[in-house]
Amino acid sequence: MQINTAGCKHWRFQKNFIRCKFFSLTETPEDYTIIVDEEGFLELPSSEHLSVADATWLALNVVSGGGGFSSSQPIGVTKIAKSVIAPLADQNISVFMLSTYQTDFILVRERDLPFVMHTLAAEFTILRVVNGETVAADDLGITNGFVKPKLVQRPVIHPLSSPSNMFCVTSLDPDTLPTVATLLMDVMFYSNGVKDSVVGNEDSGHIRFFSFSLIEGYISLVMDVQTQQRFPNNLLFTSASGELWKMVRIGGQPLGFDECGIVAQISEPLAAADIPAYYISTFKFDHALVPEENINGVVNALQYFLKNLIP
Ligand code: ARG
Repeated sequence: MQINTAGCKHWRFQKNFIRCKFFSLTETPEDYTIIVDEEGFLELPSSEHLSVADATWLALNVVSGGGGFSSSQPIGVTKIAKSVIAPLADQNISVFMLSTYQTDFILVRERDLPFVMHTLAAEFTILRVVNGETVAADDLGITNGFVKPKLVQRPVIHPLSSPSNMFCVTSLDPDTLPTVATLLMDVMFYSNGVKDSVVGNEDSGHIRFFSFSLIEGYISLVMDVQTQQRFPNNLLFTSASGELWKMVRIGGQPLGFDECGIVAQISEPLAAADIPAYYISTFKFDHALVPEENINGVVNALQYFLKNLIP
């Protein structure tokens, strides 16, 4: 959904005021995308500038079952490409992705839940969190009508671009949030427009992209290196290896919410090549973040599938 900057006065950053348990705000050149739970949605001011995606979506995330092998597991969507993303795409279930520092959320339409559960039941135990309690999700007894998984390579069908800036995926102790609240406001709502008009915006290949989420008390921030430098030292956590990421932006025309398989087109080849990736869908486009050193290989490989489509 889109929101104008006037809406920001309704955000309350102090911990005690937050009723909303799932909040994410991503700034892109075209709009702000907000993902909120129902409590949060009620607090949004109604505005003619707000477009709301149809239906209610549920956020799924994969909790790996402990075990000693978690350190060798790839990061982000690469980890769930084969087990979750591809099977859902094969069943024509549309998803919406939000990778954070902590986990990867796969949003699916609530009405698709029975199909999602059926599709994933073989590999996963599906639990639902209802009012803070974790309960087994009911099996709704869907047995027929499922197509066999595709074994063919999924072609990439949307144009790709790769902005020049480098990104980091970081987190913040919620207790320190008040100390950076004004900086966050400035970064998200007030600074880029001015800066970008000086450096020439998209022409220089630089993209305006900032993603903030506060989900179940965990904060995740995805920002470019220039923006990160505006934060006080040692406040943001990064993973031990502190890698930098480059973006592949997916989509020429707005992608909408119905098309399936876009995340799969991108994440399957990445998983096959063992390249970690974060993946953030926004109202109009999708964004994959891959390690900086892999960007050329990734773009070439994905473009190869894209070109092969065009006769
Ligand atoms: N629905 C797409 C898929 O299943 C991903 C989301 C694309 N749409 C968007 N507005 N970002 O792969």
